[in-house]
Amino acid sequence: MNQGASEHTETTTVTVERRSGWWIFFGILGILAVAFVVITPILIYTGAYSIGADAPDARPMQWVMGMTSDAGVAAGARSVIVPINLEDSSRVLRGAGMYAEMCENCHLAPGKEKTEISQGLYPPAPIFFDTGDVLPSAKVFWVIQHGIGSTGMPAWGKTHSPELIWAMVAFLQRMPGMTSAQYDTMLHRAPPHDEDMQMPEH
Ligand code: HEC
Repeated sequence: MNQGASEHTETTTVTVERRSGWWIFFGILGILAVAFVVITPILIYTGAYSIGADAPDARPMQWVMGMTSDAGVAAGARSVIVPINLEDSSRVLRGAGMYAEMCENCHLAPGKEKTEISQGLYPPAPIFFDTGDVLPSAKVFWVIQHGIGSTGMPAWGKTHSPELIWAMVAFLQRMPGMTSAQYDTMLHRAPPHDEDMQMPEH
């Protein structure tokens, strides 16, 4: 009888401890939720959040923007079909000419000085020749065609055909590790691109 009573007491204690654990968990969750609901509008409406491009975003903002952008690009890239002859040398040269004209200002090029635009961008534009990474072609195509909202990266698909965008992709894939001599040689051999441009009809 005594033994039975003590067992019963132990079970009650464990149950009470578990319950108080849940209360603490929901309590913290509640406080965080209230803090989020109160602090977010204050930051948004009072202008307290620094929106300038001359300092990095706060960590939580970087996280939200980074995740949203990565997931959006990955989702878009899934329906892109990469041409089999992407690395065709005439395609690469065509892309080189377009890169110098439209991308170098922000993404820079081997042997070229930093530009005013490149130094003022936030988030900064990646420097393709300086990294060892070759990005997946489908992803690069999607980004060039659609751009990345809330950054300086424009949507080139509004004025350029998929064929021209593939030429830029082909050239970008050659960029990692490219020397200034290689870049200049390619530019020298690149066709002029003005006549390729497709302006949208009004
Ligand atoms: C006005 C500046 C600007 C110009 C011009 C520009 N870009 Fe960008 N680009 C950016 C910025 C800024 C980012 C980074 C966006 C981010 O952090 O999400 C970017 C990102 C990219 C990326 C994604 C890289 C990655 O690591 O995911 C590609 C690819 C790219 N640009 C290609 C191009 C090409 C090709 C051109 C020329 C046709 C071009 N960009 C012109 C500013 C620019």
